[in-house]
Amino acid sequence: MNSIAENVVKIFKEKFPEKPDVYFSPGRINLIGEHIDYNDGYVMPAAINKGVYYAIAVNKTDTINFYALDFDELLSIKINEIRKIDNWKNYVLSVVNEFVLAGKNISGFDCVFGGDIPCGSGISSSAAVEGGLAYAINDIFNVGLNRVELALLCQRAEHNFPGVNCGIMDMYANLNGKKDHVILLDCKNITHQYFPLQLNGYKIVLLNSKVHHTLVSGEYNVRRKRCEEGLAILKKELQVKSFRDIKSSGDVELHKDKMSTEVFNCCTYVVEEIERTVKAGQLLQQNDLDGFGKLMFATHEGLSKLYQVSCPELDFLVQQAGKDKNVIGARLMGGGFGGCTINIIKEEAISNFIADVSEAYEKEFNIELEAYVMEISDGVTKIM
Ligand code: GLA
Repeated sequence: MNSIAENVVKIFKEKFPEKPDVYFSPGRINLIGEHIDYNDGYVMPAAINKGVYYAIAVNKTDTINFYALDFDELLSIKINEIRKIDNWKNYVLSVVNEFVLAGKNISGFDCVFGGDIPCGSGISSSAAVEGGLAYAINDIFNVGLNRVELALLCQRAEHNFPGVNCGIMDMYANLNGKKDHVILLDCKNITHQYFPLQLNGYKIVLLNSKVHHTLVSGEYNVRRKRCEEGLAILKKELQVKSFRDIKSSGDVELHKDKMSTEVFNCCTYVVEEIERTVKAGQLLQQNDLDGFGKLMFATHEGLSKLYQVSCPELDFLVQQAGKDKNVIGARLMGGGFGGCTINIIKEEAISNFIADVSEAYEKEFNIELEAYVMEISDGVTKIM
């Protein structure tokens, strides 16, 4: 057990009488396929070695007690009084609420959780909180849901109290991750394949811009709406059922005059990103990392110019990465508006790269950069 897990267990023992079960719930990275999980696309996420630890035990009452270590806050609530409150409480309560709405037989429990994913950094602390709790509840009450059903439950939970109309990628990766593998997830059919991630001397490094995004702010839902609006037009004009059926962005262009510029740009991005992700999957299987990296840069360009979910800080970080010959690909990762960039870098060049970019970033924005070298881990696991 690492020190965070030990601390979570120690605090649980100080606060509650039972012996807890302990779980690790990872955050995620995404190699390519951004903002297309809710557009019937493919995505390529993986679970990582940063995440949330849960200590949890049935308490034989009708009250749920949470202690959020990272916020030093307690929440006690009767199971039949669960409602939307605010902040972290909405994420955990919404998960419990989904079990109740699904008619599952659960009762009171005590729970302490804490982790090492910076909030709003695009590594999906929210899915780590939701997925870990859903898995633990499923386990301690013998509910019997499988990992895919749990991911779908967490997605409903995030739509409900937090109000983020997210896709399935984050919770799917959190629950179904596999050590040293990426997941090629088909978001239309909700099925996946694993690929071993062989980076042959390269590593994945995240650069945290420290610009905090908050998906709850509504911009995410606005992007989703634009896509829905555009697709309704394209369905009619092109006789297609989903973005996946559109052959190329040229077909979207034919109907430019029927949509606003924002809607047109979003649809163009989505069709191009679906195409890029399919191509990226093939390149990864052929071990063509250079080709893969070029697609990552192209994704960033699309996210920044067409989908408009970047910010000057993220653009700067990707630009800097593009100047370094040891970096084969870089782009903003996750929902955007801040958070991290994902970079594939030659292993021996990592420390120089981090030092150089940190210096330039601090000079430009007066923000101290954080960098994380990633390891790919399994999805949610019971560790004790
Ligand atoms: C957030 C959402 C995901 C996905 C990404 C963008 O992380 O939770 O469902 O849409 O943004 O790819």
